Amino acid sequence: MEKFNIAVVGATGMVGRTFLKVLEERNLPIENFYVFASKRSAGNTLTFNNKEYTVLELNEASFTDYKIDIALFSAGGGTSLKFAPIAAKSGCIVIDNSSAWRMDPNVPLVVPEVNAPDILKHNGIIANPNCSTIQAVVALNPLHKAYDINRIIYTTFQAVSGAGMGGYNDLSEGLKGNPPTKFPHPIAGNCLPHIDVFLDNGYTKEEIKMVEETRKILHAPELKITATTVRVPVFDSHSESINVEFNKSFELTELVETLKNGEGIILEDDVQNNIYPLALNAAGKDEVFVGRIRRDESVESGVNLWVVADNIRKGAATNAVQIAEWIIKNV
Ligand code: A2P
Repeated sequence: MEKFNIAVVGATGMVGRTFLKVLEERNLPIENFYVFASKRSAGNTLTFNNKEYTVLELNEASFTDYKIDIALFSAGGGTSLKFAPIAAKSGCIVIDNSSAWRMDPNVPLVVPEVNAPDILKHNGIIANPNCSTIQAVVALNPLHKAYDINRIIYTTFQAVSGAGMGGYNDLSEGLKGNPPTKFPHPIAGNCLPHIDVFLDNGYTKEEIKMVEETRKILHAPELKITATTVRVPVFDSHSESINVEFNKSFELTELVETLKNGEGIILEDDVQNNIYPLALNAAGKDEVFVGRIRRDESVESGVNLWVVADNIRKGAATNAVQIAEWIIKNV
């Protein structure tokens, strides 16, 4: 089997380290492996498949020097904006976890369970969607195909790990009574209706990412979507309340079956026994968990869902590695 030179850019970060873990677990056909970060951590070592790798400082020549075939980026938007085109020009395929390229019409935005063939349209850069959007569209795609979604209302309950190490520290330190350094308010014992920056229309950028990225991934540019995104005192895994309205009518049992058969979905919906998706149970897993499925009785054809997934794995690293696997198999 052909083997590939694979690099992780931002390998020392929260998502970067999970890239390494997921790449190990899924056993990709790797010839040479490289880990890049900034000057700050160059020279440190990271363990991958029981071998020590020295962290290299990323520079303009990195991709040609090492003949990298596929690079997984999670080093912030600025690094992606600058280095993804340089990498692409050298023949490397970049899978970028930042928001820098997601809405570029020349860049596919991909959740493999939903729109893997979009990968074929790449010009060297493929974008990994926002964590909240990934888990939502895995659940919504089978429903959209079956019942034609008309409107979506998202309300999210997002883990602090989505804000990197700083978010994690604010919650753990906050639980000891210390003030926050990452968030503008204490997160321990609190809910912050504020993720990413506020825009002129009063929405946060996170909310608009969910709106725009859902439309792009589902190929539904006209879809009516609104979102409220909330940071909650949970370490790992995002939970989402999703209200969906359809153009077609549905039988609830059939809709549940449709979700049950959906790729990447695990149904956890047995309220008699207190079974529904939970952040603590989803942490460390790669699937999207769906439950609390009930008809929205206030509209003609609508449903409410509770959708939970590990935001660092399926919401970031696992999704990117799945894209790499698809490329290795099909491109
Ligand atoms: P470093 O450890 O050298 O700062 P997180 O999102 O968890 O904060 O991680 C961000 C990741 O992006 C880290 O691995 C960080 O490396 C890396 N990074 C930040 N700026 C750059 C840059 N200019 N070039 C390469 N990697 C960068």
